[in-house]
Amino acid sequence: TKPDLVQKLEKTIQNIPDFPQPGIQFKDITPIFLDPKLYEEVIKDLADFSRGKIDAVCGIESRGYLFGIAIAVALEVPFILIRKAGKLPPPFVGEKYDLEYGTAEIEMRTGQLKPGQRVLIHDDLLATGGTTEAAAKLIEKQGGEVAQFSFLIALKDLHGTERLKQFDAEVHQILE
Ligand code: PRP
Ligand code: MG
Repeated sequence: TKPDLVQKLEKTIQNIPDFPQPGIQFKDITPIFLDPKLYEEVIKDLADFSRGKIDAVCGIESRGYLFGIAIAVALEVPFILIRKAGKLPPPFVGEKYDLEYGTAEIEMRTGQLKPGQRVLIHDDLLATGGTTEAAAKLIEKQGGEVAQFSFLIALKDLHGTERLKQFDAEVHQILE
């Protein structure tokens, strides 16, 4: 990643203290979308990481869609939606994962990912890695190969990256 892009993003992304809960620093990425040139640079960086290495992009609802579709279009590969439970019509496959309190589930339409396809899993943010780990399990369940992960931001303190090591895939983030 170009140092210049990192600097621009650090200036653009806003840190909101104590949201949505006390002690949490929320990263507001929405100002990126006010600057189409910056958005283009982000997509170029993320697309360059995956060019020639994947057959499909899976983006995680909802903020994973904001960059994921553009990566897929740039690389001329299919984009497949991973949705939060209860939104997709059957047939679909699901994967449950633990949250700090309780559990969540994500789902994918069956038949869209072809067995053996090399997949990029993309999301805006890697925190604990729970969401991304569940997404990777969902890909493997369908015979796909988890080839790469990419994020706009990876929060190092929460050890998400360690959790993704089990998948033996390349990991890229623009900001740490
Ligand atoms: C946020 C973020 C990632 C996930 C990261 O999504 O966009 O998807 O949390 O957390 P983790 O690594 O600890 O699993 P959120 O569930 O808030 O929903 P949204 O994308 O729909 O805003
Ligand atoms: Mg999300």
